[in-house]
Amino acid sequence: MTQQPEQPARQCCLLLAVVGNPIAHSKSPQIHKAFGEQLGIDVDYRKTLAEIGAFASCVAELRANGARGCNVTIPFKQDAFEYCDRLSERAAQAGAVNTLIFDTEVCRGDNTDGFGLVHDLVNNLHVAIGGRRILVLGAGGATRGVLAPLLAQGPQSLHVANRTAGKARTLIELFADAGNLSSSGLADIPERDFDLIINATAASLGQSLPPLPDTLLRNGGAVYDLVYAEAGTPFLHWGEQAGASLAADGLGMLVEQAAESFFLWTGRRPRTAEVLEAMRARPVK
Ligand code: ATR
Repeated sequence: MTQQPEQPARQCCLLLAVVGNPIAHSKSPQIHKAFGEQLGIDVDYRKTLAEIGAFASCVAELRANGARGCNVTIPFKQDAFEYCDRLSERAAQAGAVNTLIFDTEVCRGDNTDGFGLVHDLVNNLHVAIGGRRILVLGAGGATRGVLAPLLAQGPQSLHVANRTAGKARTLIELFADAGNLSSSGLADIPERDFDLIINATAASLGQSLPPLPDTLLRNGGAVYDLVYAEAGTPFLHWGEQAGASLAADGLGMLVEQAAESFFLWTGRRPRTAEVLEAMRARPVK
């Protein structure tokens, strides 16, 4: 019997995905491809459109295909929270999951959004949070996801203002033990001269701006929009006119949350600065 030559080992790549609806706009594949190239890991990261109501079956298919995990974006972060067998502490605090990790039998859920925001503010943009007066606009899932990591930095105070004041009040009650928190509607924000104002409303997605008094920001303070937009957002333009020394969109947060997800899947931490720089220089459409 002739000996069969040994087959070359099958090229094995790391299968990952982002699940959302819509999904065409997502920059995550470019970011994770860059991480993989940097670390010598062959990454196949796919945009996956899930129909509303079909999140679980979409994830089941990814698992059956051998994926290591996936990111989860609008509108499925709550579905992902319910889908997981185990939750990290930060996912439990956020009440939402943006990263699924598929172990053999078990699916773990984490939330890297707040980590991404704080890392971008503190490490990339050098905006201090500790000891500062912070205002967060909006009281939806995005705000819930970032409150605990912001409070962990020890701000002097953190005020949440929302179009629907009752939602802001309900939200801060969840974090009452974690810091000096207050809430209001958008029209009756009691303090002025905030050091940092973060827009976590969905208003920027529609390129609109909640009405804001221009005395809200301390002269030389910082504004940050969780939305990423090449040409800026109405909120960032408002901040510049209100005297901000720094106005940043959410691209840095996107890259930083992606790096933390990549670490959860691979145990390897990519360098983010060069990826962020490349994306700013050559925006991916
Ligand atoms: P997400 O998960 O992105 O936070 P969400 O849970 O639907 O989405 O929350 C959207 C947030 O944006 C809410 O705080 C919403 O205010 P309401 O709670 O009053 O609905 C806020 N928002 C949406 N459009 C807005 C607008 N045009 N002006 C001000 N706030 C807006």
